[in-house]
Amino acid sequence: NEGALWGARFSGGPSPELAALSRSTHFDWDLALYDIAGSHAHAAALESAGYLSADEARDMHVGLDEVADRVRAGTLVAAPSDEDVHGALERVLIETVGPALGGKLRAGRSRNDQIATLVRLYLLDHSRTITRELLRLIDALVSQAAAHDSAIMPGRTHLQHAQPVLLAHHLQAYGWALVRGIERLRDWSARASVSPYGGGALAGATLGLDPQLVADRLGLARPAENSLDGTASRDVVAEFAFVAAMIGVDLSRLAEDIILWNTREFGFVTLDDAYSTGSSIMPQKKNPDIAELARGKAGRLIGNLSGLLATLKGLPLAYNRDLQEDKEPVFDSVRTLEVVLPAFSGMISTLQFHTDRMADLAPQGFSLATDVAEWLVRQGVPFRDAHEISGALVRACEERGIGLEQADDGLLASIDPALTPQVREVLTIQGSVGSRTGVGGTAPERVSEQRSELIARAQSA
Ligand code: ARG
Repeated sequence: NEGALWGARFSGGPSPELAALSRSTHFDWDLALYDIAGSHAHAAALESAGYLSADEARDMHVGLDEVADRVRAGTLVAAPSDEDVHGALERVLIETVGPALGGKLRAGRSRNDQIATLVRLYLLDHSRTITRELLRLIDALVSQAAAHDSAIMPGRTHLQHAQPVLLAHHLQAYGWALVRGIERLRDWSARASVSPYGGGALAGATLGLDPQLVADRLGLARPAENSLDGTASRDVVAEFAFVAAMIGVDLSRLAEDIILWNTREFGFVTLDDAYSTGSSIMPQKKNPDIAELARGKAGRLIGNLSGLLATLKGLPLAYNRDLQEDKEPVFDSVRTLEVVLPAFSGMISTLQFHTDRMADLAPQGFSLATDVAEWLVRQGVPFRDAHEISGALVRACEERGIGLEQADDGLLASIDPALTPQVREVLTIQGSVGSRTGVGGTAPERVSEQRSELIARAQSA
């Protein structure tokens, strides 16, 4: 079996059926450059421990660079006989530097400690890309919020009109959720920045190679404390998949808002042509496909997380081949976010808001009834009574088919003498929104302070 990493104790090569099942080069090739980075670091450790002379180490690094160039150029492809990326790259390295030198690189390492390290490097790298894309999306939300800082929309609970809120407040709410996504990635990266290299297959090293040297070269904080844990744990992968799924779920919720806002019934937004799609049969259609794909892909991100957890749950220590199943789901989560986030940012930053329509709808559904009750409280009425009085006013207005602000003095007085005409000072959406000055509230000055805090938190995350 040409170039295989094992074979001597076997009477023949693997069956084609086994090879087809076992092979992972069609997905773990994404780790090729990380594998080579690991080999550079490992070669340095071998040199420092005296297993490679300075000349040998130099030739090894030159050979690895050549292989890396071919990977980058896309001219290096796995052979059908390669089981995985590690075997393929070692085979090519031996072809490049010769068997006498190339054969020395495997001393003191196993694919088990390699793969556990490389998947961390891959995820740490991509977490930086995803963080950048999240920052762009937060920026798009914040810019839309700032551009519409006085627009008032119907705030809803249970999807029913509840209380008016600023559009900026609503957009920034998603900004906070996404900032927490960035912070989760940052917190995760501290746990991910560990190097299992040197743990060998499971039991640790005998050759006296310096694992901190390897960790340093790879930009990881420290070696794994326990070789069994280092080679066999994948909670770092599952945690990443959770953070990705949570980001996907937050995007999906915003996507659902946009899909609703874009309906004729809501009429709150118009999507830019470049960020919407048409129908093959209905010429008039303009569909919110980016939002729908984002919503749909949240399902996939959740599936990747649950699949991974299911793979892990029955595994005894240490390495089991099941662990090879960690890569496809988490690579898919990475690629999914890396394609959804830029499209989503483009859709948000080009969204046109119909603030007149939002303002028209904001007072509907008696959404100022709480303001009436709280106004009564400020006049000294106990809240239980105030709630009853305001509720009676809603019922009377509903029977007459009018809004709260249209109730005349006589109607107000007939409900309760405490309902003087002064109550009208809170019967405007501006008055309602403006009065919610508590911390985190929707009053314009609170929302604008909140926006500065949001920008600061995003920049420091
Ligand atoms: N391809 C394996 C993985 O992705 C790593 C190789 C370990 N193989 C083995 N037979 N121990 O986890």
